[in-house]
Amino acid sequence: MSTPWWVGGTVYHAYVRSFRDSDGDGYGDLGGLIERFDHFVDLGITALWLSPITNSPDHDWGYDVSDYLDVHPELGTLADLDELVEVGSRHGIHVVMDLIPNHTSASHPWFVEAKSSRNSSTRDYYVWADAAANGSPPNNWVDDTGEPAWTWDADSKQYYMHNFLDLQPDLNWWNPLVHTEFDRIIDFWLDRGVAGFRIDVANGLYHDRELRDNPLNPRAHIWDTEVQGRYGIEHVYNFNRPEVHDVYRHWRTRTESRSTPALLMGETWVARVDELAAYYGDDDQLHLALNFPFLFAPFEPPALARIVSESVAAFPAGAVMVWAGSNHDVPRVATRWAQNDPRRVRLAQTLLATLPGAYVLYYGDELGMVDSDVPDHLHRDPLTAGRLNGQWPRDNARAPMRWDASPSGGFSSGEPWLPVHPVVEQNVADQLADPTSMLALLRTLIAVRRHHLSDLTAIYRDVHVDASRWVYDSGPLRVNANFSNETVFIEPCDAPLLSSLDVRPDVLDRLRPWEAVVSLRTSPRP
Ligand code: GLC
Repeated sequence: MSTPWWVGGTVYHAYVRSFRDSDGDGYGDLGGLIERFDHFVDLGITALWLSPITNSPDHDWGYDVSDYLDVHPELGTLADLDELVEVGSRHGIHVVMDLIPNHTSASHPWFVEAKSSRNSSTRDYYVWADAAANGSPPNNWVDDTGEPAWTWDADSKQYYMHNFLDLQPDLNWWNPLVHTEFDRIIDFWLDRGVAGFRIDVANGLYHDRELRDNPLNPRAHIWDTEVQGRYGIEHVYNFNRPEVHDVYRHWRTRTESRSTPALLMGETWVARVDELAAYYGDDDQLHLALNFPFLFAPFEPPALARIVSESVAAFPAGAVMVWAGSNHDVPRVATRWAQNDPRRVRLAQTLLATLPGAYVLYYGDELGMVDSDVPDHLHRDPLTAGRLNGQWPRDNARAPMRWDASPSGGFSSGEPWLPVHPVVEQNVADQLADPTSMLALLRTLIAVRRHHLSDLTAIYRDVHVDASRWVYDSGPLRVNANFSNETVFIEPCDAPLLSSLDVRPDVLDRLRPWEAVVSLRTSPRP
């Protein structure tokens, strides 16, 4: 296989409902992506990953699928998707979809049928179990809200299992028919020209066949980078089961047998790098496994550098790393890592974009978008209420994007589904006109990575790491980063390619506070 397009590539993660509304109903849509396609061309991205666009009652905004083979009417039509793929291919931009194999919506016909009787044809598509002797759930598993992962079905007198909402029943991957269904779903979209998938909850799918209790562990907490779990319960038996790897081996073989191999990028939300490595297998499973240990690391050189180095060491030869700082489930980089300080935001994106492999850019991060602060009564995410002990409301990272400085932000002619992003300067029109804007920096970074990192030989090497400095080589690039409020003097080098701050120096001999400078490794001064 020739070098895949995602190596050195930039995958733009579009939260479709918040990108641009083309028909005035307040929801961003496929038409909005087509209308503003110039934004992607201007940025120089390689691929567009769409948050779920398939049919859904939206209890989890599309992550509860009721029809895998059609487009949600609020978001457009199959014809719009075809047009988006077509426009993309004219500009060399691939379209990647979200695939949700861990669970369906409770309104999916499979589940409606499954619930109708214990003998129904799709009963075994889901995970059912009898009550314990005292009528309680069969084990101690909890779902994402901290409630029991089991809901009683009074009609058929059994519990069904769900890792997320009770309206999102988990599929039973021990059933071969579920595999066949997903082979068909994958083919349906690839036949339409989609270039691959981001696989939701890729470390889920299988559950322990004996439904054993999970171990209790007070460290099992979503931010923990060693122990996977939540609410003090380790996810040993309902996530990350060994059987899941066969699914990816199978999908990899099938997708690589096509004339254009498709990307398989997993939402591999595991705590440790060694667990993450397992999803690459012998470079025969996922092409990209999203690195949550990195995302959850503190914004400090030793912690970040350690995870990059551990990843390099743990991943199989040929594996491509992938770097993302924000997504629709966590606070944005600008707020979580950079504490809303513009210098740190620019530093953070410079680091993410210059590590070798693939780079995922969450919509709005190209404008330096910080988290918004959605008032309680305007929240739209049902998983937020009581979720994760109320740690963060996900809607704050899902604000409709600003295209201009007008009150509507140019997002929609109607009432936006969530309040438009509150920071007026973080808009596309103003930043396009400003050569020192975050948007201008992102365009430069994406061009630099495309030019210098689109090659499997681009590897990472630590050069120097201490509490306030991170210096590394990434392919031919040398990245010098200052994580402090002091100016630091460094060995001079000519012709830096870029600075994360607004002005590029001619000669690099110092780093300003919170500055990163990217130069070519071959240019140290004699
Ligand atoms: C993934 C999605 C998240 C969703 C969950 C359940 O983690 O990213 O948004 O709530 O799966 O589908």
